[in-house]
Amino acid sequence: MTSDAAGNDLTRDLETFRQEATEKLASATSAAEVDELRIGYLGKKGALKGVLRGLGKLPPEQRAAAGAAANLVKTAIEEAVATARERCGGPVAKAGPTLDVTLPGSPAPIGSRHPVRQVARRLIHIFHNLGFAVADGPEVEDEWHNFIGLNIPPDHIARDPSESFYIEDDLLLRSQTSTVQIRVMENREPPFRIIAPGRVYRPDTVDASHSFQFHQIEGLMVEEGVTFGDLKTTLRLFFRQLFQKEVELRLRPSFFPFTEPSAEVDLRCPFCGGPGCKTCGRKGWIEMGGCGMVDPNVFEAVGIDPDRYTGFAFGMGIDRMTMAFYDIPDIRYLFENDVRFLDQFGIG
Ligand code: DAH
Repeated sequence: MTSDAAGNDLTRDLETFRQEATEKLASATSAAEVDELRIGYLGKKGALKGVLRGLGKLPPEQRAAAGAAANLVKTAIEEAVATARERCGGPVAKAGPTLDVTLPGSPAPIGSRHPVRQVARRLIHIFHNLGFAVADGPEVEDEWHNFIGLNIPPDHIARDPSESFYIEDDLLLRSQTSTVQIRVMENREPPFRIIAPGRVYRPDTVDASHSFQFHQIEGLMVEEGVTFGDLKTTLRLFFRQLFQKEVELRLRPSFFPFTEPSAEVDLRCPFCGGPGCKTCGRKGWIEMGGCGMVDPNVFEAVGIDPDRYTGFAFGMGIDRMTMAFYDIPDIRYLFENDVRFLDQFGIG
């Protein structure tokens, strides 16, 4: 090939090279042939590169002229390629898929926060502003934290094996987040204000409003001089913030082993304001949970002096709140994790 002669008379060789290349290109009959010739002459390992290597062997004063001649040859061959391509039907498509970088990308699906988690985060935020820190406890609990510390006696109905998921004799899935009260009080010195959102388990028959697993949020404040008035004010401030308007609360006398006195918390239905609607079951009030003043027996069980400290506690269901907020008719939707359902609640 001409590259062999590159060291001798380069300019002459270049001319021979140009002629050969342009003639072959002019007589090419297919786009594939044109492409093959183009690669053979102009490609990275093509013949022209070989000719150009000869440039380095020339005396310096000849190099510039020879370089300019080589460039002319290159341009001439490029033009011949273009002409041949036009005649034979354009460039041959390269093998493999082509990439059109101007096309919009395909969006990757983004996950979203579960609606229960979205509501829980709102509750945490509001209580945080009221000075409550989040506390946590295990979902597998012992009887001490789930019952005994909470002043729930051995013969209490809640301790029947049919009322809780027992794993072993002294081990069960916690049936209430009140367990975290005990964990906090046995480990810390008052004063403290905590909330404990989390999952609890009870062997309830599953229907539209019951599940064997659900979510509660527990609250506890222990300090010198805490009163029932503080409890009511805290709950009122909380609900006012949650619904972004003035709310009416009703505390109905009730009984829980770990509080004395105890009350059920009813909220004037924030959706209808009283006359009754679907959300409040036409009652005008929504039952939000239980509350009361920490029973002195509980203080004694965890080693807190009941003569010095008082405290209040409350526990509410998060799933019901979530259902009311988003108008979800069946609690089972919250646990099936069907993405078509979950997708409706935004990223959160
Ligand atoms: N643990 C109770 C339940 O699961 C709810 C509750 C009631 C929690 C009164 C409290 C409370 O802290 O004071 O039904």
